[in-house]
Amino acid sequence: MIGPDPRSKYPMKQNQNVQFIKNVITKPNIEAGDYSYYHSDAGEAFEKRVLHHYEVIGDKLIIGKFCSIAGGVTFIMNGANHRMDGSTYPFNLFGNGWERFTPSLEELPFKGDTVIGNDVWIGRDVTVMPGVTIGDGAIIATRSVVTKDVAPYTIAGGNPAKLIKRRFSDEWIKDWLAIKWWDWEIGHITANIDKITSGDIEGLKRI
Ligand SMILES: CC(C)(COP(=O)(O)OP(=O)(O)OC[C@H]1O[C@@H](n2cnc3c(N)ncnc32)[C@H](O)[C@@H]1OP(=O)(O)O)[C@@H](O)C(=O)NCCC(=O)NCCS
Repeated sequence: MIGPDPRSKYPMKQNQNVQFIKNVITKPNIEAGDYSYYHSDAGEAFEKRVLHHYEVIGDKLIIGKFCSIAGGVTFIMNGANHRMDGSTYPFNLFGNGWERFTPSLEELPFKGDTVIGNDVWIGRDVTVMPGVTIGDGAIIATRSVVTKDVAPYTIAGGNPAKLIKRRFSDEWIKDWLAIKWWDWEIGHITANIDKITSGDIEGLKRI
């Protein structure tokens, strides 16, 4: 085995707060790639950070490989949204005759899946709203609220999160995205971690 076992729940044996998301999720509507981790504050399970996520609604949270997700990050899913075409009060939830006003799925706002790319770093206490796509290699600044898609290899921050800066040139991003190092066999990744972490695009192209 090279590096941590991608099948482990807690890859840092001495620190059970760090969880490989793929191995701790129990819900079928969440997917995560190898090595993506959540650094909880007190062993809190990753799924506790995914709110209003109901199978009946059908939206998925899809996370790529090698993502770093800091403590307190919250994913708000589509089940959070009330009707907005009149009163927003959810009469049906209180029953006692009001259940007959249960809205159909079509009447509820729906923004689609939440998709987090590969090698994404989401800072502490960030909130990700429903239907957002965060591209490969993006960084989300601490305490941001992400309401719109974030392009690959950019830094976004604030509430609502806006582009702070592009991390590399357009050409670098195009070449790096074509390489997709995260899909390599793990021995090959390990042999090239120095190039991967220093953004050595020429070095990666040579191999
Ligand atoms: C996003 C981040 C990486 C930016 O780092 P950086 O490249 O060194 O950027 P700078 O500190 O020079 O800031 C660049 C700009 O972003 C702004 N910015 C930085 N952090 C921000 C935040 N959390 N929210 C909004 N704007 C932020 C700065 O004010 C600055 O704005 P300006 O260009 O108008 O002056 C860093 O601020 C951050 O949030 N890191 C995440 C830390 C974290 O939560 N770690 C969790 C443990 S893994």
